[in-house]
Amino acid sequence: MKSENVSISHLKTKVGRQVTLCGWLYNSRSSGKVQFLVIRDGTGLCQCIAEKGNISEQLFEQLKHLGQESSLKITGIVREEPRSPGGYELAVTGAEIVHQTNDYPITPKSHGIDFLLKHRHLHLRSQRQWCIGKIRHTVIDAIRRFFNDNGFTLIDTPIFTTIAGEDVGSLFEVDYFGEPIHLTQTGQLYLESAAMSFGKVYCFGPTFRAEKSKTRRHLAEFWMVEPEVAFIDLDGLLELAENFVSFIVEQVLANHHSELETLGADIESLEKIKPPFYRLTYTEAVEILTSDKAKDFMAAQLGEMQEQKQQSETRIAALENEQNQQGLKQWKKDKIAAELIELRSELLEIETKIENNPKHTKLAAEFQWGRDLGGSDETIISQMHDKPVFITHYPKAAKAFYMKTDPANNKVVENFDMLAPAGFGEIIGGSMREDSYETLLAKIKEQNLSPENYDWYLDLRKYGSVPHGGFGLGVERTVAWLTGEKHIRQCIAFPRMMDKVYI
Ligand code: 4AD
Repeated sequence: MKSENVSISHLKTKVGRQVTLCGWLYNSRSSGKVQFLVIRDGTGLCQCIAEKGNISEQLFEQLKHLGQESSLKITGIVREEPRSPGGYELAVTGAEIVHQTNDYPITPKSHGIDFLLKHRHLHLRSQRQWCIGKIRHTVIDAIRRFFNDNGFTLIDTPIFTTIAGEDVGSLFEVDYFGEPIHLTQTGQLYLESAAMSFGKVYCFGPTFRAEKSKTRRHLAEFWMVEPEVAFIDLDGLLELAENFVSFIVEQVLANHHSELETLGADIESLEKIKPPFYRLTYTEAVEILTSDKAKDFMAAQLGEMQEQKQQSETRIAALENEQNQQGLKQWKKDKIAAELIELRSELLEIETKIENNPKHTKLAAEFQWGRDLGGSDETIISQMHDKPVFITHYPKAAKAFYMKTDPANNKVVENFDMLAPAGFGEIIGGSMREDSYETLLAKIKEQNLSPENYDWYLDLRKYGSVPHGGFGLGVERTVAWLTGEKHIRQCIAFPRMMDKVYI
């Protein structure tokens, strides 16, 4: 029978036909006369059943000893099979081994995160990293589509810059033909210039921050998309941001149901992400943080976490018991070992949260108006909401020089952060920009920045200045929120952090 090369994602159109899959051995087990080989080809997973009698004795033996991640071309008849990972399986009729692999370092029994980060070049092949990578691709596609379809022009802003847009403490210095300059922290200031030419613009690229903190929300290199719009107001910006984020969520839900399921993401909650999002001023957020409502919420959370801890400990004890039983099959041992690693890391996380709960409750209760919201404050507010929350009008002193002072209250600026729900925290930061030459110059001086460096930026306020504003959305934080991934380092193929630059 003839055979054509197909990808796993196209198997549904080939039922009953003989096809060849080109891929790698993801997993296998054998039970006497039958071998179950799970193949991945970059488009999905497919279980291939090799039965003695249907293939040569020699090939049957070869397949039996094929190590994880060996590459091969495998031929067989496509059958519908709901229990197979993608819903179809292959009844094997032949195979060609392309590269036999032994001792692949990442075994199905799972490893700690440090080991996996050191093997990222190989770990990218794991099902989890594959699902995240596919979702990230769709997030980026949705970002471009949203702005391209809504009248925005893409402007590529420079990576080498001489001026700071955000906190000067997080600048990466580089030697530019003997002159110390830095890598971009934001394309915003350049975009403001472009917005005065094109009206609605966006930039999208890598962004660099020398973040010394090793939190789950910070990378040294991340991807940020920034729209900027002339003749807009704060309400218009919030509307743009909620439509934008809702579109991204809609696209991910429409294209990645099975990946989200594999990752254990909260699909039901994502389905609720539709405009309007919640809107709070900073002052209202502070009122919530210092209220009994927040205290009670944190106490209830503590109770829930203690219960989870107990359940986790019971399950770990049961698995440890099972692990010590005699005569356990290797695949079962691997399965238990993998679950134990997962459970122990979850337990550690719950214990840390339990330990932090009183500290964070106290920080929130004693929050003083004027401080910037910290990570734990954002987490509390976002945990108390089931849809994203905008927090607007932060104290002027806590924010960047370019943010427009609120004409109705000169203690605050017309800015906003968007917090993703369920404790995830900030994914967007944005603001209206100061459009008065005199006020902007005064703010640059107040923040000890050199006005000479901002000459061109100040020019924009001299020639046809208009109300304008924009925001920045971090891709990795967005992907982490959508996939339920706890650490954003899992949401970019090759993460850059203070202690990680190799690979
Ligand atoms: O709030 P940020 O610092 O805003 C700006 O850079 C503005 N100039 C954007 C603008 O108005 N055009 O950063 C925006 C977003 C954050 O909400 C977060 O999602 C992401 O960028 N981000 C980071 N992501 C990963 N690692 C880091 N170190 C990040 N810093 C910011």
